[in-house]
Amino acid sequence: MKTSRLIIAAAAAILLAGCCDKPKFNGPVYMNPDADIEERVEDALSRMTISEKVDILHAQSKFSSAGVKRLGIPELWCTDGPHGIRAEVFWDEWSQAGWTSDSCVAFPALTNLAASWDPSLAALYGKSIGEEALYRSKDVLLGPGVNIYRTPLNGRNFEYMGEDPYLSSRMVVPYVQNVQKNGVAVCVKHFCLNNEETYRHTVDVDVCDRALYEIYLPAFKAAVVEGGAWSIMSSYNLYRGRHVTENPRLLNEILKGEWGFDGAVISDWGGCHDTDEAIEGGLDLEFGTWTDGLTMGKTNAYDNYFLADPYKERLADGRASEEVLNEKCRRVLRLIFRTAMAPKQNCGSLCSDEHYAAARKIGAEGIVLLKNDNQVLPVAGVKKILVVGENAIKKMTIGGGSSSLKVQHEISPLQGITERAAKDGIEVCFERGYVGDPLTIQDGLIGEDLRDSRSASQMIADAVEAAKDADAVIFFGGLNKAAHQDCEGSDRFSLGLPYGQDELIEALAEVNPRLVVALVSGNAVAMPWIDKVPSIAQVWYGGSEAGNAIADVFFGDVCPSGKLPFTFPVALEDSPAHQAGSAFPYKGKETYEEGIFVGYRWFENKDIKPLFAFGHGLSYTTFEYGEAKLAKSASKMKVSVPVTNTGSVKGAEVVQLYVSDPECSVERPVKELKGFSKVLLEPGEKAVVEFELGPDAFKYFDQDAHEWVLEGGDFDILIGSASDDIRTSLRINVK
Ligand code: BGC
Repeated sequence: MKTSRLIIAAAAAILLAGCCDKPKFNGPVYMNPDADIEERVEDALSRMTISEKVDILHAQSKFSSAGVKRLGIPELWCTDGPHGIRAEVFWDEWSQAGWTSDSCVAFPALTNLAASWDPSLAALYGKSIGEEALYRSKDVLLGPGVNIYRTPLNGRNFEYMGEDPYLSSRMVVPYVQNVQKNGVAVCVKHFCLNNEETYRHTVDVDVCDRALYEIYLPAFKAAVVEGGAWSIMSSYNLYRGRHVTENPRLLNEILKGEWGFDGAVISDWGGCHDTDEAIEGGLDLEFGTWTDGLTMGKTNAYDNYFLADPYKERLADGRASEEVLNEKCRRVLRLIFRTAMAPKQNCGSLCSDEHYAAARKIGAEGIVLLKNDNQVLPVAGVKKILVVGENAIKKMTIGGGSSSLKVQHEISPLQGITERAAKDGIEVCFERGYVGDPLTIQDGLIGEDLRDSRSASQMIADAVEAAKDADAVIFFGGLNKAAHQDCEGSDRFSLGLPYGQDELIEALAEVNPRLVVALVSGNAVAMPWIDKVPSIAQVWYGGSEAGNAIADVFFGDVCPSGKLPFTFPVALEDSPAHQAGSAFPYKGKETYEEGIFVGYRWFENKDIKPLFAFGHGLSYTTFEYGEAKLAKSASKMKVSVPVTNTGSVKGAEVVQLYVSDPECSVERPVKELKGFSKVLLEPGEKAVVEFELGPDAFKYFDQDAHEWVLEGGDFDILIGSASDDIRTSLRINVK
């Protein structure tokens, strides 16, 4: 009996082993998903003709590039990015293709994500958007964007992660890693120094190496070196006289040389200008060059790309080498093997409940409570709320340029507030208050018609009348992704709120003391009425679940914990790019005179009081910081600080660690962010928050020696709730 059982078990094991064994792969190496990627690349390359090699280096449609049909190597399909998966467009046009299966979830704008100061949410963001891209069969997601917030007038700040290189680095890495787990590449953009929109194609930026390495490059470097980004998008602007897309210093020396980037450099759409410069300047894949829309009869307009027929001509007559060509092809093939030809674990998912939940959570965690006198928020003890403002009803996912989305649904602030208020039996009324951009059209996507025939003064009068009769008023204003109001291709004209909103806010404040001003924007705005308004919240562009996320915070279901990822200046002239530099927008040559003093580094160095400091954000509860303590090991320092929730509700605190070098042979910022940690605490709960600081936390970039330098001596470790709210500090000696 025993023996026969053993025999059966052994036979079953052999059988099982037999059926689980993978059949041996008999095809060519480049087709073998289990083969080493470099071997696959070399094998594919060895089989390609020169013409086929050139053909994979440029677009074949607005968003795709060719593979090698003869060899069964598929096309690459790109998509915007960075907040959701863009709707399908026609082959050679920007307009909508009219599909009915291409609606997506809009995730909160990247400023909203950055304001959460929570890398685990960046991971969730990356995972979710990556799954949407995979479901839509996209290989390359054109995002995330990590250009530094240099001026509040930059029209695209809403797509980026703020003014601090450390914060944006910590947030971009998990985003990148989690998108790419889906077999979808990120294309980190816009590398680099693309800090304005108006003259983005022609502005020629110069910046000292110290600022380049300390401020403008770290997030890109983190995305590449730590995140392992598979592609990067070169920016439109010039750097030291040469377009970035064809810039050997940035692309060959720094990106591919110093950082060891092995992926593909993709041009921003239309960012390539010269065949010879592109060949030797480091561009690998050309997109968006102006074609004449395939109206050239029998010929393919894409053959006219700089890296198409003109490249072939140069290869044929010896002006271009096959060695450089092969190097570009290797990078593009690597990208294809990592994405389009990668074995996928699943098919991704689109508009899933999980994705909506992720969007809502990220949105709520990033909302920043700027001011909250008299505990106007959370909403409590009221029977009737008046909601005012166009931004309470306007769909914000359409507009803003290439990040515009066709969504399955978008919960407006009014809808979110109304639905949540109903649960508490609170009545909600609405008054428009002002007209801003009542009819949005972006590449054929059309927003709802919000035109209103009343005069501006009539609308204010109507809102004021209704405000008198309400227990509390919530005003939704800010910007709106129309041209010059947070939009690609144009910059803002001023720091002030548009459409007469200041006047309206003042009028509302006069008649109702329980006024909340909620600002929908990706940029700082001026607040001349700040002393008259008790409660102000920065709610960003929250995407599909915007209204629900806002309601979660405003009704106290979620305690606010967002912190500003950039400084709000009182006046435009206070900010570095405007005080130190020439008139904005910059045309022609622009030197970043403020150097490393960007954002809070500038305000603190010049002793200018901002309206709201970097890292600022209030809560419905209070946190008490104990004393910071130091523990040293051979190579790292550990700093710990006890933090206690001393209020009456559960809430999260972003504990921020700044390093200050009191004495140095070079000028240094007053302090620099080098660590942060978000802790969720029950009322009365205490946690000990720990930070590890490696040598990098103390270094500056010596541009003459071209190296990072740690100048030994005393350093101050400052820990607090915001850059202007340091609660505990200690002095340490670093050798
Ligand atoms: C933008 C990119 C975008 C590309 C494709 C360009 O105009 O600058 O960010 O990814 O278009 O839509």
